[in-house]
Amino acid sequence: MILTDISISNFRNYDSLELDFHPKLNIFIGANAQGKTNLLESIYFLALAKSHRTTKDKELIRFEQEEAFVNGHITTSYSTLPLSISISKKGKRAKVNHLESSRLSQYIGHLNTVLFAPEDLNLVKGPPQVRRKFINIECGQISKVYLSALSNYQKVLATKNQYLKQRNPDEMMIEVLNEQLSGYAATIILKRAGFIKTIGEFAAGIHSDISNDSEALKVEYAPNIKYESDDPEGLVRELRILFAEYLPREIERMQTLIGPHRDDITFSINGFDVQTYGSQGQQRTTALSVKLAELELIRKEVGEYPVLLLDDVLSELDENRQAHLLTSIRDRVQTFVTTTSISDINHAIMDDMKAFRVTEGQVKA
Ligand SMILES: Nc1ncnc2c1ncn2[C@@H]1O[C@H](COP(=O)(O)OP(=O)(O)OP(=O)(O)O)[C@@H](O)[C@H]1O
Ligand SMILES: [Mg+2]
Repeated sequence: MILTDISISNFRNYDSLELDFHPKLNIFIGANAQGKTNLLESIYFLALAKSHRTTKDKELIRFEQEEAFVNGHITTSYSTLPLSISISKKGKRAKVNHLESSRLSQYIGHLNTVLFAPEDLNLVKGPPQVRRKFINIECGQISKVYLSALSNYQKVLATKNQYLKQRNPDEMMIEVLNEQLSGYAATIILKRAGFIKTIGEFAAGIHSDISNDSEALKVEYAPNIKYESDDPEGLVRELRILFAEYLPREIERMQTLIGPHRDDITFSINGFDVQTYGSQGQQRTTALSVKLAELELIRKEVGEYPVLLLDDVLSELDENRQAHLLTSIRDRVQTFVTTTSISDINHAIMDDMKAFRVTEGQVKA
């Protein structure tokens, strides 16, 4: 999938702007606070009808203006499609092929994107919640079964915890809830295991490319419950027994002590743990490889690569990693990169791309 052009108006610090893009690699160069991230955000907004950095849509409208627009054309192997989205006090209006979509959910999904921003380093450096959120979002996108098991699990877990907080908890009731939890937990665990295995294989390939074959990345599921069976029925049986075993301790501690709400993912390079021992660049490369694995997942689902938005990733990668990243990716995936300095960019990638200079909301190709 290729975004051939966009025109934007009254979006963030942009008055009005039209840009034609390179089918492979586009680099936005500019000093701090000039509007580089705003450009990526406008592409993200065109794709998903929301921003990646704010939930308050109003912030996207240029100061003292009423309405912001982003229009663009995407081409896939089958067709060219105009997309347009606007936002004003009255809300958002989205059009596909000049026809207004009555629901945003009909609009979203025409332009697929994967975005990597500096905060994504948290996937490696942050607490386990960040990684669970990542799995939940990614798995949820692929599997409705997962999404419903997760939402049921969370509801039942909350109820169980309420019972555990009471002075004389109703054990019978908790056993009933445990019974339900076993089923939902088994689904969650098996889906997560499958998803992490797939994404781990893709990520390992990408990481090896970026590090010029010097680093072997392993992404592994670290389930809170160490289980044996990988068939659903066997796992449910195992979980029932475990939950029963833990019940007295849970009553004593007044909270649920085991379950997939305490799962994690671990990352290792050449056998050592990246969170503990990885350098800044290795941690960045790991997070990037895991995020880039999404490109392959989406292609598997949709049949086309999404467009890739990379905000500020070059500065922490050495020249070799930059070159491997941008050259290995741009031949498959249309890529948009921001950087503060042209000297950040390896000369090997200077051909077959388009550079844009961003200065105070003006962009020059
Ligand atoms: N709604 C808005 N209207 C006008 N200007 C805005 C609006 N929202 C943000 N800005 C301006 O946009 C600029 C920031 O743009 P952006 O985040 O794209 O910078 P950047 O080029 O990515 O910088 P950095 O290199 O620091 O990441 C700031 O000057 C900010 O004041
Ligand atoms: Mg920025």
